[in-house]
Amino acid sequence: ISLGATVANAAGYPERQITMVVPFAAGGPTDTVARLVAESMSKNLGQQIVVENVGGAGGTLGAGRVASSKPDGYTILLHHIGMATSATLYRKLAYDTLNAFEYVGLVTDVPMTIVARKDMAATDLKGLVEYAKANKDKVTVANAGIGAASHLCGMLFMSSIQTPLVTVPYKGTGPAMTDLLGGQVDIMCDQTTNTTKQIQGGTIKAYAVTSPERLSVLKDLPTVKEAGLPQMEVGIWHGVYAPKGTPKEAIDKLDAALKVALKDQNVAARFAELGTVPSSDADATPAALKAKLESEIARWKPVIEAAGQYAD
Ligand code: MLT
Repeated sequence: ISLGATVANAAGYPERQITMVVPFAAGGPTDTVARLVAESMSKNLGQQIVVENVGGAGGTLGAGRVASSKPDGYTILLHHIGMATSATLYRKLAYDTLNAFEYVGLVTDVPMTIVARKDMAATDLKGLVEYAKANKDKVTVANAGIGAASHLCGMLFMSSIQTPLVTVPYKGTGPAMTDLLGGQVDIMCDQTTNTTKQIQGGTIKAYAVTSPERLSVLKDLPTVKEAGLPQMEVGIWHGVYAPKGTPKEAIDKLDAALKVALKDQNVAARFAELGTVPSSDADATPAALKAKLESEIARWKPVIEAAGQYAD
């Protein structure tokens, strides 16, 4: 009878593999966070979570794909601060940001780094700003499209120095990094989950980190506050979502598996190497993610309206 009971329990959700949509290209920071978390959650759920990269339109195509997916618990989304900024940046979104998703929980909050191709002459942020102002018609800034974290940080940079620069959009900052390493693009503001290795290896130049304090893995890198641009302080929080209507049993199991994954030694160690930490139990909850999304939409709306950088 006990075996029967076990099998009966196991017959609940999930009964087959789950798709985790990452709304940016493979190899970028969002993909890095997603694959680490998905691998650990798979172990806890007893079903494979397969990551699917759906890039384009600064992450809004992937988010829209999940919003219109069957709410059966087998399609979920891992997205970041761009879910909040896109609500203001896009006048026409395929989904209603605050009503199209169920919330699972927060995952991690990643700092950003202002970086440049390695032969950029400037040796500090002040010098980089001077160079950008003097060459504003030719300096190129890479990002992952309007709505990306790299777009938000690039927008903060340009409004902080009151100088619009030429922006070059990619499907993710994984591909953008390839061009930065090759010197095809000049500057980028990207998450430490994608830049730490290159900065440590000297294959790109770094000028500042957007966290309030310096990072132990990049201890020589000044904060934007130290470097004179305190208004650039920003953290890229990531969350897991499911389509509205996903059964609570599925949400609860996904949330339980997320909490266990965020305590996985391998996940914590890898996050630490990349300059970030897993969210706490209290933050890895539906209520915390909902509150974060709502407060961040309100926080960034006036900043975006002042910068006037919309997608039409
Ligand atoms: C972003 O800029 O939002 C991310 O870096 C995009 C990505 O994960 O590639």
